[in-house]
Parts: sequence; C-alpha cells; structure tokens
Amino acid sequence: MGDNLLSRTEARRVATLAELDAGTQVRLGQFFTPERAARLIASMPALPESGVLRVLDPGAGVGSLSAALVERVLAHAPNITVEVTVVEVDPRVVPQLRATMADCETTATRVHRRVSTKVIVGDFIESSVGLLAKQVLRGPFDIVLMNPPYAKLGAGSPHRHALAAYGVDCPNLYAAFMTLGTGALTAGGQLVAITPRSFANGPYFERFRKHLLSSITIDRIHTFESRSAVFSDAGVLQESIVLAGTRKGKQGRVVLSRSVGHTDDARESVVPYEAIVLPDDPHRFLRVVADETHGRVSEVMAQMPATLEDLGLGVSTGRVVDFRVRESLRDAPVQGCAPLIYPGNLKDGMVVWPKEIHKAQGFAVASETQRKSLMPPGCYVLVKRFSAKEERRRIVAAVWDPRTMGQVSVAFENHLNVFHRAGEGVDRALALGLSLWLNSSLVDQFFRTFSGHTQVNATDLRSLRFPTHDELVRLGEGRTPELPGQSEIDELVAGLAKRRSEIA
Ligand SMILES: C[S@@+](CC[C@H](N)C(=O)[O-])C[C@H]1O[C@@H](n2cnc3c(N)ncnc32)[C@H](O)[C@@H]1O
Repeated sequence: MGDNLLSRTEARRVATLAELDAGTQVRLGQFFTPERAARLIASMPALPESGVLRVLDPGAGVGSLSAALVERVLAHAPNITVEVTVVEVDPRVVPQLRATMADCETTATRVHRRVSTKVIVGDFIESSVGLLAKQVLRGPFDIVLMNPPYAKLGAGSPHRHALAAYGVDCPNLYAAFMTLGTGALTAGGQLVAITPRSFANGPYFERFRKHLLSSITIDRIHTFESRSAVFSDAGVLQESIVLAGTRKGKQGRVVLSRSVGHTDDARESVVPYEAIVLPDDPHRFLRVVADETHGRVSEVMAQMPATLEDLGLGVSTGRVVDFRVRESLRDAPVQGCAPLIYPGNLKDGMVVWPKEIHKAQGFAVASETQRKSLMPPGCYVLVKRFSAKEERRRIVAAVWDPRTMGQVSVAFENHLNVFHRAGEGVDRALALGLSLWLNSSLVDQFFRTFSGHTQVNATDLRSLRFPTHDELVRLGEGRTPELPGQSEIDELVAGLAKRRSEIA
C-alpha cells in the first residue's frame, strides 16, 4: 500500500472497523467502503474544468468517499478548488473522520492546491429536514457522494415521518439519504450512491423510485454482483449498485458496468435511457441491463404482445400460511385431506406429491375460513417465491395437473406464486405453454434485468410480458408438465420470438 491520501484513509478505515462494536455497527449500518470501491465511486461523477466544487458526503464514516474524490481532483483537475461537507452521527467515528478531512486539506496544500472541509456531527435526516436545515448544511452542492446506512424504516419511525413531511415515502434509511442527498443538489449537480439494488423494483419502493427518477436522470450504473465481496458482511444476498445521476439532467445514454466484487475488473456497455426505464412503465422499474445479451433480451420482451391481464390470468401468493393452521397440517395425506403443496414439491416442471420434504403434505380443513384457502380442482402454474442459491434460474415454474393429481381441491403454501383464472384453474395447454415460457432462459435473463434478489414476487410476475394466448397454447399442446432440457425449452421459445419479430 503506497503512502497517499487514500491509502492513509484506508488504514483509518481498517483501524476504526476493528474497534466498532457489532451492535452499533448493525444499528448504524456501518459498512465502510474499501479503497478500491471508493476509487470506483469517486471516478463516476463528471468534473468541471475549473471553479469551486461543493461536495457533500452524508453518513461519511471515516471519510473514504470524500478522500477518494479529493485525490482524483488533485491528480486530474488542476483548476478546481474543493469544499467538502461531511455528516456523521456516530461520535466514536468522528476523530478518524476529522483526521481524514485534515489530511485532505494538508495533502492539497502540499501541492499548492486548496481543499476546505467541514465536519458536521449529527443526524443527516434531522439536519436536512429540520428547521436548522439551511444553517447546518450549506448548499446546494455540486456532488453528493454516499454509501448510506441501510435499515428498514417502519411506519412509526421518526425518520420515515420526517421524509413523509418532505413529501416522499422512504421504506429504508438509504432511500431517505438518497432523497435528501438529491434535494441538496444544485441543477446539474450529480448524485453518486452505492446502495442495495432492492429499490430498483417491487412495490415498496415505488413512490421513492418515482420521486428519484423525476429528480435525477441516470448517467451510469455499476453493479456489484456480490455485496458480501465488497463489504465482507456475508449473508446478505442482495446485489449492490452504484448509481450516478444528474439533477435536471438530459436523458441520454446510460453507461452500465458490472463486476463481481470490488477487486476484479468491470465489464462495460452503453445503452439508451429507455432500456433502463421503459417509457410506458407505470411502476418505473429500473432495469439494470448488464450487457448486450441483456439489451437484446429486453428488446425481445418488449415485442411480446400480451400482459397477464390480456391472457385473462392473475397471479397471487399461495393462501396457506402453515404456522397459522398448525392444527390442520398432516404429515402424510389421509382421507378427507387436501393435498398441501410446498416449493419442495416442485421438480422439473411437475408437482411431485406426496413427497418426503420434511413438510406436511396434507391439509385437513377445519373451518369455513380454511376452506377458502383451497383452490378448486383445475390446472395451476406455480412459481417458487424464493429460488435456492444453487438453482440456475431464479424463476422456477411447474404445473399442478389434475390429469395425474386428480380433480381435487388443492392447498398451495404461501412460499408459492399461483397463476389462476379468476381464482379457478387455467386451460391445460395454456398452463403447459406458460410453464415453458416462464422456465425459459429468456424470461430468467429478463427478470435479472430488474431484480437483484432471489425472491420472485407476484408483482414481478405481473410486470412480465407474454406471447399471445394462442401462441402459448401452441407451445403447450400435446405436452405433459415434465420439462424438456433447458436448451430445448430455449429453442422453442426462441422460435416463438423469431416468428414474432418477423410479424413485427
Ligand atoms: C454504510 S456506512 C458508510 C460510511 C462511509 N460513507 C463509507 O463509504 O465508508 C454509513 C455511515 O453512516 C452513519 N450514519 C448512520 N445513520 C446516520 C444518520 N442518521 N445521520 C448521519 N450518519 C449516519 C454511520 O455511522 C456510518 O458511518
């Protein structure tokens, strides 16, 4: 490690991490950015030719992001003066943060440059939305850099209330930081934030996403496929992304890059803005297309004519929440029991029931309410809500087929998504075609463009596009639920997509 501003900051980061107690670290989301990731984040905003650059680093930790930016400016932008404001709530981290800020100033002076710094010890949310906002945070800023803390904000949380008063709903602390960080930018100012990818899709973050995308335009997105590789906080399956955007910017092309952790090289591509946020998408999903393959996948999907509603179908989660109906669970099927189906019963496109999976296999209906959680006899397409890490595809679908299972009412457990027609079964050929479609690599790759988790929500499935009813029926005709090999599924779906593009 050489002796420069960033490596000295890295030494402070490592020393500080060693002293943090685990409880505070989790409560305040203290996962500090390692040197190489800090350099990548600081490389993302465009720098002006000259003038004063006002930088805000909220939730600054030991100041790694600011130090990386100052180092870049000193090396590559000789006519810029920097004013850095850092905000940190934990007084135990502040001495090291002050040391980094002093280091930024003296390093600049040594090369006859000017960097001034200001350390604010306090809560960024309160200082941003409170009455003192204007005095505490001199703004507006040209660049806001952040690796904000992550913590769910419950409906009663003061931070969530503060943001609601500001007009935005933020279900997580990082969303609150991004909202206020964006609000602190001047027109043309840039936000660079490393966060989990969870805000990119799904209903919880919809209002936040809409606010963010109406406040900034996206310039660049970097995906770290493994958050644990960046922050060593193993156990978190979420991907992290670095998002760079401009307040009141023009929508142009977006640079996408991707690496596994922060130490390997990034792969890069450039895509049109509309590939990231589809112009007619009411949910404003952020589709992070990783490379050209993903770009092509998005194009093919865009040509698909039908929504789930057009097919006359709906999707919802399985109605049986097993721990709420313990008294009605039966290990093995007995007379008068409905089959109870878990994700573990799905195999190669089929439902295998009963099966030894250490879960109850029978549901003995004990009340009228419980009877309502049964689905009437018929054909249903099931998708696991949580795919296992070792599964190749995130979308794993299978068909509940009355031809082999019998014309009986059936109970689907809550870890399954269930495709149905108005609460009843789906025509068999349509169900079989739909299962093939959902199990294709095309749908899987498309899903990955907007979701960074292994979780598949009913909303995600509702947002997909589909071939027409007749095309799906043709795909399913003459088949059984058992899936052919992946390459055969992909060929069938590719053939369908090709015929579609010839029509279009
Ligand atoms: C994920 S760490 C990142 C630190 C630093 N930006 C970095 O990249 O290394 C988040 C930091 O925010 C601080 N923090 C947590 N809640 C805060 C709040 N409400 N206001 C200000 N800082 C906060 C934590 O103490 C922690 O230092």
